[in-house]
Amino acid sequence: MQPLSRRSALFLGGAGVVATATGAAGLLWGQGPGFQAAVGQELIEPQALHSADGRLQVKLSAALGQMRIAGKDATALSYNGSLPGPTLFLQAGDRVNVTLENKLADPTNLHVHGLHVSPRGNSDNVLVSIEPGTSFGYEYQLPVDHPPGVYWYHPHRHGSVADQIFGGLYGAIIIEDSQPVPVTRERVLVISDISLTEGGSIAAVSEMEKIMGREGVMVLVNGQLSPALTARPGERERWRIINACNSRYLKLRLDGQHLQLLGLDSGRFQSPRDVEEVLLAPGNRADLLVTTAIGTAILRTLPVDRGSMGSMMGGNNGGGQSRPGPDGTVLATLSVTGAPAVGLGPVPTQPAPRDLRATPVSAHRELVFAMEMGMNGGGMGGGRGSEMMSFTIDGRPFDPARVDTTVPAGAVEEWTLRNTSPMDHPVHLHVWPMQIIEQAGRPVDSVVWQDVVNVPARSSVRVRIAFDDFTGKTVYHCHILDHEDSGMMGLIEVR
Ligand code: C2O
Ligand code: CU
Ligand code: CU
Repeated sequence: MQPLSRRSALFLGGAGVVATATGAAGLLWGQGPGFQAAVGQELIEPQALHSADGRLQVKLSAALGQMRIAGKDATALSYNGSLPGPTLFLQAGDRVNVTLENKLADPTNLHVHGLHVSPRGNSDNVLVSIEPGTSFGYEYQLPVDHPPGVYWYHPHRHGSVADQIFGGLYGAIIIEDSQPVPVTRERVLVISDISLTEGGSIAAVSEMEKIMGREGVMVLVNGQLSPALTARPGERERWRIINACNSRYLKLRLDGQHLQLLGLDSGRFQSPRDVEEVLLAPGNRADLLVTTAIGTAILRTLPVDRGSMGSMMGGNNGGGQSRPGPDGTVLATLSVTGAPAVGLGPVPTQPAPRDLRATPVSAHRELVFAMEMGMNGGGMGGGRGSEMMSFTIDGRPFDPARVDTTVPAGAVEEWTLRNTSPMDHPVHLHVWPMQIIEQAGRPVDSVVWQDVVNVPARSSVRVRIAFDDFTGKTVYHCHILDHEDSGMMGLIEVR
């Protein structure tokens, strides 16, 4: 680590002031001048597109334009003119064709987060770049045994991922169960955050916010601010929840209602688990059953301490993280009234998930996630966050021309994800999910599979990965998208 020079200390101090000023402006929003949102409108579901006969063909047009956000006119990015984009409902074994049309001013591309599909060619290849004014045809072949669950799509063009997702480019993907779960209602809840100016366009983000990982002033559910949901008592609803926020961790509660987690990220647990709250790092998804009880319940997200830059920046606890009160931020209101619904049949149990804890491991690796102060040849005079602070894995920022990790096809590997920095990093690997086997030095005593694994500040997590089915090049990275764009990403080749 480079010593903190007076020059960079002064500069960072300046950036801190900027961040504070932005934060203060953000607080005024809603109460006075600034973007005037409408709250309490009835929840709108994103457009639903279902595959049929094993096929789905979709056109997604990424553009800047006018749309409704938080019930008011705004100018943001979107797929097909709405935020979020359409939800793709798929079945295992489907073939999906997506024509992505780039009407943005910058290059983009598309990633299907969590899907177990090939990373090559025109499948889930994050190394392609679709230039403005051009289109690209993606084709994804889902394996016949693809796990059901909640997934999502978003841009993955290195360097602009944070801005494009923050601007509004994301949508849900649902892979249906082969044996349906009896429910009275399914809802897709895409949770994202955004900051808008008074005129309704995307607010600028300071360099300090990028270092921290930007958090939007408004936390939206399907593009709405604090929407209203209604149900009758005794109903069983299935909520597919996606944390599409750039950096914000969600700690969700819905007090007064019976919550059961069916699964997290991909796949389903053997049987539903009773939960009181659900923690979702950026990129994580929850498949949640809500059995309704009479009354009004508030879906809220409680504050999550994901670390700070305090110790690296001489006590200046950098901006970018919202600090809601202890009751958290209201996301939605569920009103349960009326005649009780008739009970539904049991939730079908699932086969026991695969467990790699007893599987012989062919290689052990350690990946070190670090943040280091440094000017990196720039900095003074409004450099990017990545120039004030370097974000690295194993000491190197991302380089698309360099393969960092080579794995033989079919291998089962154990990776230690070590975080030496004072902030948490939610670590994501494409294509292959990770089984968490040890956290903070303690073995995990149940089978936990995720594709985004939070690695707390100055801590480490051990995971096992089975590199089955596919070969090719893809990436692993921090899912705080500003960190990813600043270089906290590595290239893996399975061959
Ligand atoms: Cu959700 Cu590599 O991303
Ligand atoms: Cu992904
Ligand atoms: Cu990070």
